[in-house]
Amino acid sequence: MNERIVNVRTSDGNYRVVVGTGVLGSIATATADALGHAPARVFIVADAGVPESAHAAVIDSFAALGASVHVHVVRPSERDKSIETLEGILAAMARTRHERADPVVALGGGIVGDTAGFAAACYRRGVPIVQCPTTLLAMVDASVGGKTAVNLAVPGADGAPELRKNFVGAFHQPILVVADIAMLSTLSDRHFRCGLAECVKHGMIAAEAGDDQLGPWTARTLDAAIARDAATLIELIARNVALKATIVGRDTRETDPAGGRVLLNLGHTFAHAIEPIHHLTPDGDAAHAPLHHGEAVSLGLAAAAHCATTLGHCDASIEFQALETLVAAGLPTKVCDLPDTAWIVDAMLHDKKVSGDKLRLVLPIGPARARLFNDPLIDAVRGAIDSIRA
Ligand SMILES: NC(=O)c1ccc[n+]([C@@H]2O[C@H](COP(=O)([O-])OP(=O)(O)OC[C@H]3O[C@@H](n4cnc5c(N)ncnc54)[C@H](O)[C@@H]3O)[C@@H](O)[C@H]2O)c1
Repeated sequence: MNERIVNVRTSDGNYRVVVGTGVLGSIATATADALGHAPARVFIVADAGVPESAHAAVIDSFAALGASVHVHVVRPSERDKSIETLEGILAAMARTRHERADPVVALGGGIVGDTAGFAAACYRRGVPIVQCPTTLLAMVDASVGGKTAVNLAVPGADGAPELRKNFVGAFHQPILVVADIAMLSTLSDRHFRCGLAECVKHGMIAAEAGDDQLGPWTARTLDAAIARDAATLIELIARNVALKATIVGRDTRETDPAGGRVLLNLGHTFAHAIEPIHHLTPDGDAAHAPLHHGEAVSLGLAAAAHCATTLGHCDASIEFQALETLVAAGLPTKVCDLPDTAWIVDAMLHDKKVSGDKLRLVLPIGPARARLFNDPLIDAVRGAIDSIRA
């Protein structure tokens, strides 16, 4: 079995990320190793879009160890990444008499991982969580680093609810991450490409974690990754996880004002403002609305690169390379029907990094390097938004 292990060391605990083909089959023994005991009960939060065969692999693995297993299926949409879904998970856990030492297993994409992770962080003030990411995006990014959250629906000026992304959450590191690339065989092409957006983001900051060749390597191996070549996928996931582990290890709770973990938010202030706009589509086809998270990140990276170029933080080649790789990955760098620029700037002011009502943006400053900038010139921000209008 071709398998890679990445060790994550954080100020909130250490854990292993196991990447390989068929690794889900040994999830129970790996969980028992991480816990230091065989679990008596396991609560699986399963993504409704994940094939039943994956549910069965996890259930069988734990059942073989003698655990009683409960499965709670959730719908993976940003609207369902909510307080209501969280409450449903917590109530179901309580009904199974889930105890403090019993693990939760998140089996699914980033939405399920974030929601189940937050449930594990809250339930009885915290129970262990094992992340089993089943999308590329969750494997390379969301399952590692301990950020858990749900979205919050806040009444806007007109009374209609506005979705604030990941507004309620907690840091809760997993005790283990199991990324089985066999799961990716059933993932849609569109969702697969979304994962590549976070890989491009990592490439744009990789020198900060000592892997300045990650971006060029990703660009060179895009075709093999898109063809889902197993060896390429394992290398891609392990390398992206290692980068995230290095950054999270240095600044686990994102408290470094000089730009530690916050660098992982490159492109995300733009992305989080446009992601909830329900009518946007990656290709102008209304049937494809709304944007997926990775598509919003792709647009956010394009906008951040443009903003940095305008402000003179980096030369235009950085923006050119970012756009070229995103397009080669089949990701959008422009979008139709974007609302007014002023509306988007206002939405960006809801970002969690905002301080004293001033925007704070992570922007590229050179090849594989980025920095956090306080209160960037608003005209450059407006220009960046306009640069992604189709
Ligand atoms: N916590 C973090 O650090 C972090 C980092 C990045 C993104 N995120 C969050 O992750 C979310 C996006 O995650 P995502 O891109 O995985 O999207 P997602 O969770 O919506 O999953 C995408 C789709 O793929 C389906 N799916 C999942 N696994 C499958 C499989 N093996 N085969 C077939 N279909 C499958 C799901 O049912 C869903 O429809 C966002 O909410 C974002 O905020 C969190």
